[in-house]
Amino acid sequence: MTIEPLALPSDLDAVLAIETESFTSPWTREMYVAELQNVGVSFCYLARDESGGVIGFCSFWRVLDELHINNLAVAHPYRRRGVGTALLTFVLNEGVRIGAHRATLEVRRSNEVARHLYEHLGFSPAGVRRAYYTNPVEDALVLWREPLGN
Ligand SMILES: CC(C)(COP(=O)(O)OP(=O)(O)OC[C@H]1O[C@@H](n2cnc3c(N)ncnc32)[C@H](O)[C@@H]1OP(=O)(O)O)[C@@H](O)C(=O)NCCC(=O)NCCS
Repeated sequence: MTIEPLALPSDLDAVLAIETESFTSPWTREMYVAELQNVGVSFCYLARDESGGVIGFCSFWRVLDELHINNLAVAHPYRRRGVGTALLTFVLNEGVRIGAHRATLEVRRSNEVARHLYEHLGFSPAGVRRAYYTNPVEDALVLWREPLGN
């Protein structure tokens, strides 16, 4: 597996396919295109398998010295093989490299798989946003990891 920045518009199809199978309110192509144009703030990294196919991605914003993790998703057949952990670990290290000191994200209260992964990587709950998600309506847990480096 390799991890690299999303650079080619042609990779967007694969990202959108994973996005759509992973989330009930997926980001649209237009949203991703707008994100890609926000150079220096908005980042997206892809995981590829040995034949170059996109199997997962993680997108985030760098806001001053904070990383805001927006999306993390792995294609169904590749889940539970460490891809999500590898992607987020890469992104956190990248965050340190570009000067971030802490990282935050939101997760559905019921998403035990993701919550387990985040806690495993040093994130702790710091608050709740009531009814933050729709489809279905659900609270978001706000997690932080600080500091980012060792
Ligand atoms: C959350 C997600 C990205 C995890 O990706 P992944 O590549 O499967 O994760 P990993 O293989 O690195 O697993 C990391 C840990 O998560 C937990 N986990 C992963 N799959 C699990 C499952 N089916 N059941 C329970 N725990 C699971 C385990 O603790 C696992 O560690 P372990 O295998 O050492 O026990 C993936 O399930 C996904 O794309 N889900 C849909 C989108 C989503 O919910 N994204 C997060 C939004 S906040």
